[in-house]
Amino acid sequence: MNLALMASGRGSNAAAILDAIDRHELDARPVALITNRENVGALDVAESHNVPGHAVPRRAFPSRTAQQQRMLELLQASGADFVALAGFDAILRPFIVAAYPNRILNIHPSLLPAFAGGMAPVPQTNALHAGVKITGCTVHVVTEELDAGPIVAQAAVPVRPNDTVDSLSDRILEQEHRLYPLALRWFADGSARVENGHVYIDSEESQALWPHPAP
Ligand code: GRF
Repeated sequence: MNLALMASGRGSNAAAILDAIDRHELDARPVALITNRENVGALDVAESHNVPGHAVPRRAFPSRTAQQQRMLELLQASGADFVALAGFDAILRPFIVAAYPNRILNIHPSLLPAFAGGMAPVPQTNALHAGVKITGCTVHVVTEELDAGPIVAQAAVPVRPNDTVDSLSDRILEQEHRLYPLALRWFADGSARVENGHVYIDSEESQALWPHPAP
């Protein structure tokens, strides 16, 4: 797997993925990290792992389409054959999705299809407002429909009575960092297949993670 990462913020998921590669828990070659912003933590994460980082800010292009065309050029020039969105806050244009069919994953901080849409901390805030007792995170295949592609794996996070958006988000993030490298591993080793809108894995591992240690 020649893996490209796309991120917009601090890049903690990108770091978790690159750390998993360094520990040989994920057999992938990181070929690029692309951001749609300048001066974001994700670029430092890339640099510290010797991964080429590319900032593609909106202001440098006449349109969002042109900006994403540049991103696609960079993906293709890097040799990427798989893409992980790791806190990427723009919606991919259909031409990028079509260039990597079933080969782009995203992580979302809720148990989809609940609380789809919105970047962190919107889904976590909505979960608190709704009063759900369990939330979590989801890794899914990216399709043209926002946060609606086939689900690869989910991790559950219990909501505590005194949780704030920050405390809940922190505990979800811990699970994101476990879940995302695992989900990518199934695609890297060929054990994941996408069929009829569902993801099946040929592995003893579960596609549902529970908090560790158990609550
Ligand atoms: C995470 O909450 C992730 O679920 C969402 O964006 C946030 C990214 O955080 N898609 P980070 O930049 O990976 O630390």
